[in-house]
Amino acid sequence: MTENPLQNIKHITVIGAGAMGSQIAMVCALAGYETDVVDIKQEAVDKASEQLHSRMDRDISKDRRTPEDVAAAFERMTFSTDRDGCAAKADFVIEAAVEDLKIKRQLFAELDAVCPEHTILATNSSNIVSSRVADATNRPDKVCNFHFFNPALVMKCVEVVPHEATSRETVETAMELARSIGKAPVELKKEVPGFVANRLLGALRTEALKLYEDGVADYKDIDVAAKTALNHPMGPFELMDMVGIDVVYLIRLAEYEQTGDPASLPAESIKEKYEAGQYGRKSGHGWYDYE
Ligand code: CAA
Repeated sequence: MTENPLQNIKHITVIGAGAMGSQIAMVCALAGYETDVVDIKQEAVDKASEQLHSRMDRDISKDRRTPEDVAAAFERMTFSTDRDGCAAKADFVIEAAVEDLKIKRQLFAELDAVCPEHTILATNSSNIVSSRVADATNRPDKVCNFHFFNPALVMKCVEVVPHEATSRETVETAMELARSIGKAPVELKKEVPGFVANRLLGALRTEALKLYEDGVADYKDIDVAAKTALNHPMGPFELMDMVGIDVVYLIRLAEYEQTGDPASLPAESIKEKYEAGQYGRKSGHGWYDYE
């Protein structure tokens, strides 16, 4: 094992310029890494750049960051659609693309072909465990989950999840990388869908939905209880709107496909909102209205 696990990590490529991918990339660039944000669509890359600039302007105006630190971070960032060109320079790849196993397997195989031999290929997924993509590569020992929380600029936790063949060196590097970008890494000893934090949240969400669907209390009151009795910053329904009801729905469906347990199926009210296109903040309507 190398003495300093980060000695070879200078360049990070984040695949996917959505809300998670773009903020993860910003966190890495702010911490001093050369960072690419890559997406297949130019519009997605442009939108990510615009949103990050306005988020950083707000942080500067509130004296949370200096203009110099932010300018230096943007200097270190590349917003690009040239995935292979970026990946060829990467020491650490964080995949934050769509939650689709087939697409991820293809992506990991292609990344494996273009990345340098030492590059670690990590996925930000919390429900597709890395053993399901590792065998699409010739470097399963350098594949793991590296899971951030929403909003990634703010939330401190990063879960580092090895699969059976992930090397100790990869785990140490991922743990150290998370620390070096100001996060608090949590190491899992083995794979389990949802990992630790989402399983805790999932238990709360399942109970909240049951209370609501059984007519015990309105969703707004359940949110009030979570905030004022448990000191949670958001109630479970507000959180679903922030994370995306589509994300909640698809995660439950993926869990059901993996476990076959009917208890994993999305709650009826989530299914209804998903089918009505009411995804939460991103669509303007969810449990609450945002227009
Ligand atoms: N992106 C970046 N920063 C954000 C943000 C966003 N989307 N939303 C809020 N912030 C930051 C900003 O700095 C903001 O300050 P300004 O508005 O002055 O710029 C600051 O947080 C405070 O925001 P608010 O006043 O709007 O609200 P708040 O005090 O409630 O804080 C919060 C917002 C940090 C999101 C807080 O409500 C919170 O911690 N909520 C719980 C979040 C949570 O549980 N996340 C985990 C989700 S599960 C998940 O991510 C798993 C997965 O696999 C997808």
